[in-house]
Amino acid sequence: MKKKVLLMGKSGSGKTSMRSIIFANYVAADTRRLGATIDIEHSHVRFLGNLVLNLWDCGGQDVFMETYFRNQKDQIFRNVEVLIYIFDIESRDLDKDLQYYQNSLEAIRTNSKDAQICCLIHKMDLIPITKREEAFRALQERVMNLSGGMNVKCYGTSIWDETLYRAWSAIVNSLIPNAKYLENELDKFCRVCDADEIILFERITFLAICHSTPGEFQQTPEDGSTAKALLPDTSRFEKVSNIIKLFKLSCAKGQAQFKSMEVRSPGFAAYIDVLTSNTYVMIIVSDTNIQSAAVTLNVNAARKHFQ
Ligand code: GTP
Repeated sequence: MKKKVLLMGKSGSGKTSMRSIIFANYVAADTRRLGATIDIEHSHVRFLGNLVLNLWDCGGQDVFMETYFRNQKDQIFRNVEVLIYIFDIESRDLDKDLQYYQNSLEAIRTNSKDAQICCLIHKMDLIPITKREEAFRALQERVMNLSGGMNVKCYGTSIWDETLYRAWSAIVNSLIPNAKYLENELDKFCRVCDADEIILFERITFLAICHSTPGEFQQTPEDGSTAKALLPDTSRFEKVSNIIKLFKLSCAKGQAQFKSMEVRSPGFAAYIDVLTSNTYVMIIVSDTNIQSAAVTLNVNAARKHFQ
């Protein structure tokens, strides 16, 4: 099952960088060596076995952008599943970027009217933390005003933290055909293991695919007060993606292969292990009576079912 994903945005906005980090095992610092993309770079990435992402990384220099809209519209914008438009938050010519965005939307409307549209407001790390939310909202508003009521999702991203994983997890998850079924099966597995939470990650990218958290909001106090320490961190999945992916890459540098991990702390234990040929599973258990051998046994037993 092939799905065409278009990456567009002005030159230097970060398209090739994010593609290389998510799909080609680059770390953020490596992207400083990347040269400008000439014309369009095509790559096929196998995701979860039978889903193939056909990535079109469209070089963003003006000379290429103008050719796309003048001569190649039908070819580039036809049969697109997702248009990912990347804005550099520190762009020196935002009006021009927005004009190219509008051109892309028009071309998508004509050639792939059911395509999803995601805008990544990128390089957020360049904005001081206290100003990030405001800068994001201001650009998001301009993008939405130009989007003419189309269903556009915006994410603030940076290659230097987990926000990149959050956005790409959401994008890729929307392309997985049997996501709901997978979620139901994970719920059952979670109950069988008596786990607090189970998360499924794609094996190569370590993007979170789905999760089961039976008691997700049980800890929220009934009086509506926000006992922050009790509430789960809403970025925990992408943080784990980021940390484990970096750890896997460090292992590979030392000629070792990451296979599994067990983390114990006074209140809980976390287990990460290969589940199928395309996935890793992470199991969080707070019941200290559950032995790690029991968790391993359950993962081994579940393997065939999830394969
Ligand atoms: P073209 O191929 O010319 O269209 O450019 P591109 O959009 O593919 O940009 P590229 O990925 O080559 O990135 C350009 C520069 O931006 C590189 O030096 C990256 O290291 C840098 N960069 C990418 N993402 C980020 C980010 O999130 N934050 C910061 N600070 N720099 C970034």
